[in-house]
Amino acid sequence: MTVGDLGEGLSRYQKQGLCSFHTPGHKGRQEFFKGLDFLGSDLTELPGLDMLHCPSGILAKAQQRSAEIFGAEETFFLINGGTVGNQAMFLALEHTGAKRVVVERSSHRSVMSALVLSGLKPEYVIPTIHPDFNLPLGLDVKKQQIPWQAVSACHVTYPSYYGTAFELKQLLEERTLFGFNTPILVDQAHGSHYLGSLFPPSALKLGADLVLHSSHKTLSALTQSAMLHVQGQRISRTRLRQSLEILQSSSPSYLLMASLERAGEFALDFGRWDCLKEDVENLHSKVSNSFRVLSQNDVGTYGIHTVDWSKILINTRPLGIPAPRCVDYLREGYGIEPELWDEENILFMLGIGSTPEDVRRLTKGLENLASFAHSGGFVEAKKLVRNDRLRIPPLPHLMLSPRDAFFARKTQIPLKESLGHIVGETISPYPPGIPLIVMGEQMTCEVLGTLLTASEGRWQGWDGFNSQTIWIVEE
Ligand SMILES: Cc1ncc(COP(=O)(O)O)c(C=O)c1O
Repeated sequence: MTVGDLGEGLSRYQKQGLCSFHTPGHKGRQEFFKGLDFLGSDLTELPGLDMLHCPSGILAKAQQRSAEIFGAEETFFLINGGTVGNQAMFLALEHTGAKRVVVERSSHRSVMSALVLSGLKPEYVIPTIHPDFNLPLGLDVKKQQIPWQAVSACHVTYPSYYGTAFELKQLLEERTLFGFNTPILVDQAHGSHYLGSLFPPSALKLGADLVLHSSHKTLSALTQSAMLHVQGQRISRTRLRQSLEILQSSSPSYLLMASLERAGEFALDFGRWDCLKEDVENLHSKVSNSFRVLSQNDVGTYGIHTVDWSKILINTRPLGIPAPRCVDYLREGYGIEPELWDEENILFMLGIGSTPEDVRRLTKGLENLASFAHSGGFVEAKKLVRNDRLRIPPLPHLMLSPRDAFFARKTQIPLKESLGHIVGETISPYPPGIPLIVMGEQMTCEVLGTLLTASEGRWQGWDGFNSQTIWIVEE
């Protein structure tokens, strides 16, 4: 009996013994799962256990305990990732006439899929692109006009993937100040660990109505385990429950749910994070001369209100070496695996399972990487040049809701003939990961000009980059 291609791939990957600076937050450490019999607990709804969609026993108790820990009135366990949390948020909304919702243009794709599922139309807010990193790290709430009277909800991401956050408190205050009752929905996928004084305040503490945690990203829950928290009266609990019933499996994994229950208890052990902080500060002081490292000094600039120290974002431009080359160096020489990288940035993510030794290994790796680069070690490395993709053209006109565009008949045409057509795909340069055009929008001169002159790079969602074609909606 062979273990199969997937099994072989996994065991090959594991054998490398890499040091994880990526999800999941447990970092493969057994201590989080002590006493949990993986095979024996791979169960779903059985007599004596409980029902995820209408819990009344052990699951109800576990969810209630998680609500207590994270400061919610009610908590729902998610076993299809944070993705379903964003989707359920939109399905649960009771609409005002306009069926519109405020979303960040750079939102995670699950928010975009939530628009397709719900039929809601987006009112975009545009995040600020940080010139040093070419990434959307902040949102200037003062400059954004939220059309409170015209929307069913306001959805925001807090913190960003990179650990930066805008001033959510101000947004919540603005709603009260202007006398609106609009629900504020927060994608806190990357900040499930925001408890206690080591991290910025959680969105629940600040007063958000619905808050999503991708608990597997930084806490100890198994991959795909997440939580959706609710408080207050603005969201119908019945509708929320019904939405989750539509989206979640009818055979929820007890392994995932048991890992969520434990993750809450481990999250209260602040010492697990506290012991990392000094080493992270040390890393900053040792490598900031060679790289541009996002740090607390960035607070107050480019719409950044807080920076989470457990995310280490470095930009390799000062070194002049493309980030992928640096990633290879760190992997080969130090067994370090980051969470993500692009041409010039690398993101290293700590989790509740990270250790001070991990951080020291990363510090050493980065220091030696810098010395190697300074001594001319990267002889044949391509010079790091930034593609001119910073300018985000004016927002194209929305002709069809993302849902109508998704279900419409589409055809692929030469890109150069697409002016004025309704586009049938969502195209984003990454970085910064802000769509130039979203399905259902009308092609403009500015967007077309940008696409026609697009050089190679990482284009997300553009099927026809090589053939210079684009999907449009048939009219
Ligand atoms: C901001 C944000 N929201 C939501 C999600 C979806 O979470 P999950 O991967 O748990 O489905 C992600 C995933 O990366 C994310 O980055």
